[in-house]
Amino acid sequence: MGDNILLMGFMGVGKSSLARRLSKKTSLFAIDTDHLIESLEHKNIKEIFEQKGEEYFRQKEQECAYWLENSVKNSIISTGGGFYKVENLKQIGTIIYLRSSFQGIINRLNSFPNAKEKFAKRPLLQDEKKAKKLYKQRVKEYEALADIIIDVEGKERKKIIKKIIKALEKRWSGKLEEMSSV
Ligand code: S3P
Repeated sequence: MGDNILLMGFMGVGKSSLARRLSKKTSLFAIDTDHLIESLEHKNIKEIFEQKGEEYFRQKEQECAYWLENSVKNSIISTGGGFYKVENLKQIGTIIYLRSSFQGIINRLNSFPNAKEKFAKRPLLQDEKKAKKLYKQRVKEYEALADIIIDVEGKERKKIIKKIIKALEKRWSGKLEEMSSV
């Protein structure tokens, strides 16, 4: 369907919480690819990785991507950090890359009272060295795929939302309002 706003970026950058804020601000529904897969599998991400493996999870991400392309429109979609690899990403909607340095992401996660949980639920964030390597591999790919890049590091959530809305209005001129009223 294509008319969606897709938030992309590394683990822990704040995609899901920004999607919820953006939802409130635009009156568009927000959905999260990890949550969709968790409900489909009736397991959390950690359990899926442990019991079925990463490859299985990636297959589910691809299935989810086809469903989003064919069945979802006018929505805000937050994605898992590796979702960008699906072959039909561009067909789902406008891609917003939320950019931060690796250290910025670690600092953000550590700033939460439940930081431990935030690390624990992410299988690919258990080993910081490996996660940093993954980050380095991915940044160029994120940048290449993005329609819009928003720098989020150290920025207040309100300001980030403003920037996203401004960028979307510039790109779409009036379409955002139209989408919100559907
Ligand atoms: C992953 C990111 C996670 C989740 C899974 C794999 C990745 O989502 O999809 O653990 O490959 O980067 P978040 O980006 O919401 O942490």
